[in-house]
Amino acid sequence: MLTRSKPGWAIPEASATPEGVYLNRRALLKSAALPLILAASPLAAGLARAAESSDPSAGLYPVARNPRYSLDRAVTPESEVTTYNNFYEFGSQKEIWRNAAKLPVRPWTVTIDGMVEKPQTVDIDTLLKAMPLEERLYRHRCVEAWAMAVPWSGFPLKALVDFAKPLGSAKYLTMQTFLDSSVASGQRQFWYPWPYTEGLTVAEATNEMAFIVTGAYGKPLPPQNGSPLRLAVPWKYGFKSIKSIVRFAFTDKKPDTFWEHLQASEYGFWANVNPKVPHPRWSQATERLLGSGERVPTQLYNGYGEYVATLYSGMEKNEKLFM
Ligand code: MTE
Repeated sequence: MLTRSKPGWAIPEASATPEGVYLNRRALLKSAALPLILAASPLAAGLARAAESSDPSAGLYPVARNPRYSLDRAVTPESEVTTYNNFYEFGSQKEIWRNAAKLPVRPWTVTIDGMVEKPQTVDIDTLLKAMPLEERLYRHRCVEAWAMAVPWSGFPLKALVDFAKPLGSAKYLTMQTFLDSSVASGQRQFWYPWPYTEGLTVAEATNEMAFIVTGAYGKPLPPQNGSPLRLAVPWKYGFKSIKSIVRFAFTDKKPDTFWEHLQASEYGFWANVNPKVPHPRWSQATERLLGSGERVPTQLYNGYGEYVATLYSGMEKNEKLFM
């Protein structure tokens, strides 16, 4: 970050880790073998603690996979996804997961306001029970040119938009992360415009690909990945996928987003993935897969053009859609 024909995703899932493999792994962790595994690996112990904590939503998972969203690559190992993170609230290094995992995610409320019929604040567990949970296999492409593929659990952002009842005049949805520098030391770095803020047009937010993540690998989402609510907009660079959301606000003004505010020439509002539009400081032509380290070609809209390209019809002339 700062400083510093048939779409590919639609091929059969033969190369993706079958659900049963990681579900079995979960069963194994819960079995009598658990003490042995924990003793053998401090990393596994930390992961298990973070993911299998007293999260009251644990009983909701695993949820059924929606087969419409499949992958062209293997699912990234859980141990990579949960230990290689961008979460600037906890520092700018990738290895902040231990601190981030301590983020208290209960009690947690979500405020829905701005241009809505009736502003409301809802408890996370009430919201989770009201939303249609499903699992989707999604790619994630960071603007830094690394990528992963994750079995996210959650619900379509459209379900939350419907729940919010925005006014017809609302054009954008702004999302904000918690603000508490007593738990997130990065928020003491005054030069960042906290709280982390992201935004979508209402048309993007109601596109079927826009997903609110609440779990991963058949369990509640670990805090380091953005528990209890995190956005996944996989056709955009990863910084759009805001973590640990506390507020959804509808507006008719383009949101002032975190990275665009810091460096608009490098991180724009649209941030759609395009291998042909380089970042000012590096190429976006290929990406490194977390886990295998393999480099593969990057695809327009990260391979999701069939779902999302029409959102941008006729906008190319006037908008910087790909940065
Ligand atoms: N959300 C918040 N609140 N803070 C952040 O620093 N980083 C973004 C995004 N969401 C970030 C965030 C970036 S740059 C990326 S690539 C992804 O989170 C990383 O998600 P991961 O750590 O689950 O891989």
